[in-house]
Amino acid sequence: MALDQLPSHAQLQSLASQHKALHMRDLFHQDPERSDRFSIQAAGLFLDFSKNRIDEDVFKSLLKLCDEAGLITQRTAMFSGEKINNTEERAVLHTALRSPSDQKVLVDGEDVIPEIHATQKRMAELAQALYSGDLRGATGKKLTTLVSIGIGGSYLGPRLVYEALEPYRKPGLSCHFVANIDSTDLAQVLAQIDYEETLFLIQSKSFKTQETLENALAARNWFFEQGGSQNDVAKHFFAVSSQLELAAEFGIPSQNVLPMWDWVGGRYSLWSAIGFPIVFAVGPENFQALLSGARRMDEHFCEAKFDENLPVVLAVLGIWYNNYFDCESHAVLPYIQLLSALPAYLQQLDMESNGKSVDRYGEALVANSGPIIWGDVGANGQHAYHQLMHQGTRPIPTDFIISKSTPYPIKAHHEHLNANCLAQSQALMAGKTLAQAKAELKAAGKSESEVEALAVHKVIPGNKPSNTIILEDLSPESLGTLIALYEHKVFVQGVIWGLNSFDQWGVELGKSLETGIFSAMQGGSQDDLDSSTRNLIAKLKR
Ligand code: F6P
Repeated sequence: MALDQLPSHAQLQSLASQHKALHMRDLFHQDPERSDRFSIQAAGLFLDFSKNRIDEDVFKSLLKLCDEAGLITQRTAMFSGEKINNTEERAVLHTALRSPSDQKVLVDGEDVIPEIHATQKRMAELAQALYSGDLRGATGKKLTTLVSIGIGGSYLGPRLVYEALEPYRKPGLSCHFVANIDSTDLAQVLAQIDYEETLFLIQSKSFKTQETLENALAARNWFFEQGGSQNDVAKHFFAVSSQLELAAEFGIPSQNVLPMWDWVGGRYSLWSAIGFPIVFAVGPENFQALLSGARRMDEHFCEAKFDENLPVVLAVLGIWYNNYFDCESHAVLPYIQLLSALPAYLQQLDMESNGKSVDRYGEALVANSGPIIWGDVGANGQHAYHQLMHQGTRPIPTDFIISKSTPYPIKAHHEHLNANCLAQSQALMAGKTLAQAKAELKAAGKSESEVEALAVHKVIPGNKPSNTIILEDLSPESLGTLIALYEHKVFVQGVIWGLNSFDQWGVELGKSLETGIFSAMQGGSQDDLDSSTRNLIAKLKR
């Protein structure tokens, strides 16, 4: 059932109209315990969600949506390998990738756990062989540079973790990520590397993605230009794919291909062999720690009551603003420099999963589905787009993410960073009243007329919702937990909206149109093209 058909929907609509008249400032004044009431410590994370436009009634009604939408049944279905991706007839088992070896998860009657653990073992052995030099390049040099070529889920997750775990990287090794078909992306990487020391890893579940294949071909040509031979390809090119034959056609022998499975979605695949750059860079033990952090969140998600369940709570709060306050976007602002790739990662995770207009049975959705996800590291945004967050006309629900510690302490920087974050969430919540603005101007010695003219511009409406998530530190474990938190949040929202979060048909049209436009740009027929596209081609060619 979609959201608008759930019994609590009407109740939430009426609660929302009452709550539009309430200010969080007053809710905080009325209830000194509010922060304790609306916060959760679990799975190594702390979530303060007290700065939301909710009270107990709203919170309970939001949680009821989970029961009404059948969250428990669907959660069990996902974890147990049922084919909940109904349009592709696939199981959705990224959670199995972090399951212990004594667990059993069946897909079509076959236990997938042994193969997962065998693959993890292979990844660890491959990394060890690269470190030790047992596996070397064609000219006998150690392979110390890994170039990962992949896009979307075959890029964003590994890059996020590689960057986030920079303090855990092994010395003397480096990874580069090439995603874009803009040749600059590849050219810039090739300019920095030595072919004799480089392992290219072609990351594509389908082994059909144009950007990845074109970049892989170009990298191989460059390898030949540098002096590599056809026979050397097997020493320098590996792949991660579910398509062994296509990888073989490219020239990568099967022993150089790490497996992917159709029950792992691209945007959920960093836990699979797609995460090999992580294994290489920070070591198999830290990759295991990442997995165990995610497993911790899986267990929490499966075991905690809904009102203490981090992904459930984040999900229903998101639904509250998306569907009852008409908020169009959701900001994720990590006040952690090492998480600068998190917003881009979450954009794919959330928007490719829940950017849908029909429910899982193909019926048009009446209620809005996924919001626009955006963000960047704090405190940078405070000197840019926060103006709109504070005084713009549309509220933007926000997740602030902070860490108790930093790997790179400098004087009081870290305290300033976190103080800035808390100041932002406080300002968003409390704002500044007209009376406060006038009093400030008077105190600054402004005349009566200046106070009258200026005060209204200085009013900050406040009442803007935010969550604050505190990490103990940014470690492989806590990062795994954080990423899995968002995976499950997206899942819960998809269940409440009644849609399939695991397909992505919307991305296909652009891919197929590109073929015709590319051919038209090369002199082929333009008959099927609209006048705008024809004119744009003409402009580009002129
Ligand atoms: O175009 C979207 C998409 O299919 C994503 O879902 C996926 O993560 C990405 O392309 C890359 O796909 P592949 O790993 O098959 O190259």
